[in-house]
Amino acid sequence: MPTMIWDLPTRLFHWLLAALVAFSWWSHHDHLDWHRISGFTIAGLLVFRLWWGVAGSSTARFSGFIKSPGAILAYLKGEAPGAPGHNPLGGLSVAAMLLALVGQVILGLFSVDEDGFESGPLAKYVSFDAGRAAAGAHEIVFNILLGLIVLHLLAIGWYAVRKRNLIGPMITGRGLIAEGAAAPMMAPVWRLLVGLALGGATFGVLFWLEKTGSAF
Ligand code: HEM
Ligand code: HEM
Repeated sequence: MPTMIWDLPTRLFHWLLAALVAFSWWSHHDHLDWHRISGFTIAGLLVFRLWWGVAGSSTARFSGFIKSPGAILAYLKGEAPGAPGHNPLGGLSVAAMLLALVGQVILGLFSVDEDGFESGPLAKYVSFDAGRAAAGAHEIVFNILLGLIVLHLLAIGWYAVRKRNLIGPMITGRGLIAEGAAAPMMAPVWRLLVGLALGGATFGVLFWLEKTGSAF
């Protein structure tokens, strides 16, 4: 019987993130004001996800899917029991994507374009050269992220060819789990509220910095 694997917050996080990454890409050239707002929203989502990775439902927790090299090897050899959630190799790619996104947002905050007209809200606290270096790294990290996303989609396609549908559970939350495996533990609502407050505050502070141009 299908079991709840991905809670609603994790699913909403995922699809919002995917849409906003696409939007950030589209908007980076001619719509930098929207690009920044999209980036602040991604920053809020990431702060939420970091909280959810320590306090959320069991399949969202980092401890559930960030594994040692030994555990990844055992999984590849087929020696590890299949627990619901990301497998150890998929977990590695999830961690890499989240890390790249955190780096991308931080670099964006300090980035400045070549004529100094467009910049992230923290760029004025560093020199122009440092802001340009941040923009250069922002471009490099974006290309790394694109590579990770392509791998992500290839992996999902590979499972689909082997008749394992991963997309359905990321939409409905429900999927089949190995016989005898314990059903994932779902986090209580108060933890969701804390996560929403943290994510919302992150967006709010960045938006405020953008609008007022002031620092603390
Ligand atoms: C707080 C969040 C962000 C801020 C403030 C920000 C700001 C900026 C700025 C000011 C530029 C112009 C740099 C230049 O012209 O050299 C830029 C470029 C760009 N940003 Fe962002 N960004 C943010 C997040 C993101 C995210 C999340 C993505 C994608 C996932 C992204 C992708 C890009 C790309 C692809 C470019 C063009 C790089 C190039 O070809 O020079 N940014 N961003
Ligand atoms: C910009 C594009 C995307 C990014 C940055 C992205 C990122 C991520 C991240 C971070 C996770 C981990 C979810 C979590 O635990 O919080 C994930 C999982 C997942 N994503 Fe994406 N994703 C993208 C696009 C897509 C698309 C287009 C699809 C569907 C075709 C997709 C399908 C999935 C599925 C099925 C999982 C669960 C994998 C599993 O069962 O272990 N993603 N993605």
